[in-house]
Amino acid sequence: MDSKDAHTPHEQRQRHDRRYIQIGRAPLPLRRGHIISDTCKIIACVMTALCIFQLYWIQMIQKGHVRIPNDPFDIRFGQDISWTSPSLWDDERLSFIHSVSPVPVHSHNDYDRRIPLFEALGSGCTSVEADVHLVGSDLLVGHGSKNLRDSWNLRSMYLEPLERLLNLQNAASSTNDQRNGIFDWEPQQTVVLLVDFKSSGAAMFEELDTQLQPLRDMGYLSHWNGTQRVPRPLTIVASGNAPFESVLGLNSTNRDIFWDAKLEQLPSVLDDFSTDPPTYKYNVSNTHYASTPFRNAKLHTWHHPSSPLPSTAQQKDIAATQIEQAEARGLISRYWDTPDSPANLGDIVWRVLVDAKVGVINMDDMGAVRQRARGWGKN
Ligand SMILES: *[C@@H]1O[C@H](CO)[C@@H](O)[C@H](O)[C@H]1NC(C)=O
Ligand SMILES: *[C@@H]1O[C@H](CO)[C@@H](O)[C@H](O)[C@H]1NC(C)=O
Ligand SMILES: *[C@@H]1O[C@H](CO)[C@@H](O)[C@H](O)[C@H]1NC(C)=O
Repeated sequence: MDSKDAHTPHEQRQRHDRRYIQIGRAPLPLRRGHIISDTCKIIACVMTALCIFQLYWIQMIQKGHVRIPNDPFDIRFGQDISWTSPSLWDDERLSFIHSVSPVPVHSHNDYDRRIPLFEALGSGCTSVEADVHLVGSDLLVGHGSKNLRDSWNLRSMYLEPLERLLNLQNAASSTNDQRNGIFDWEPQQTVVLLVDFKSSGAAMFEELDTQLQPLRDMGYLSHWNGTQRVPRPLTIVASGNAPFESVLGLNSTNRDIFWDAKLEQLPSVLDDFSTDPPTYKYNVSNTHYASTPFRNAKLHTWHHPSSPLPSTAQQKDIAATQIEQAEARGLISRYWDTPDSPANLGDIVWRVLVDAKVGVINMDDMGAVRQRARGWGKN
């Protein structure tokens, strides 16, 4: 086709060159330009995304989390330590954990911490919480049922480390009836492991019961012996979807898993005020905590001026605050989902609950526990 219009070989080459330039070459710089500008856009997008993520991350890290300069915990348990590091069990770190002064604080969502269990104990918490899912015959620890990992299980994260810590505290000399707890200053102080059942009840309860056997054999578990609550270094509490019937179904002379009752529903038709003291449905034989979200809190008694004053024991019980109702039953009151922003609101709620003599304070921020609970009332 080309050669038809070309008059000389030179013209032909020129035209060919032009075509070559037009068709072959000309688009090339254009295309390269496209590629370069696309690459620039992608890089710009990625950089922007990274910047946003970094800002978000910095905010997440700082949000409500108290950092203390020269925090004795942070010094010993730095970023290089994780809950699977063998060096977690170094003498120096262990003696730090055992020398902490316990405080009545519950470590909420404990498994979320950089070093689950150890950061709570190292901050003095006497109670830790793990959300647990039954998967096959494993108890996996985590928020949702997605993203669970086999290695993140109740045994490896809580039951085995607790047993190991307690074995170290109970050398040959101690007997099954006389067990030392985690905290050297208060060896009688029990530590609560609150297992929040995320899967449905009875099957998971049975699995938990089975997995507790090594701790039970060592005499580490608080239990109801048929007439009395026998306190031991570790108290197991079942919460969430755990069925109360499963607790009642345990051996009534050796019951070592206790219920987390609903604090706003303690008074029951099964309460018997004909005995002295009254017999309550939820009592130390079957229940340890009584908990409710903070929005359900009833911290003050209020009495309508026109109605008669409560006179019978039952009327008085119904009129009492939730914390008093729990106390009457020998239970420990706990409010969760307390507001935490703005930061000073969290502080005010904390103060109000301490003044109201709540059983344990629910906390997410271990830095704040170490900073503010220092020297504060012992359990
Ligand atoms: C239950 O424990 C208490 C206190 O440790 C003890 O006095 C009592 O004899 C025990 N009861 C039974 C049935 O073992
Ligand atoms: C219940 O516990 C007691 C004492 O620990 C034990 O002797 C008894 O065999 C247990 N009963 C059952 C049904 O397991
Ligand atoms: C505890 O509650 C159960 C019912 O939930 C009841 O049968 C039992 O007598 C109560 N025990 C005590 C010591 O109050």
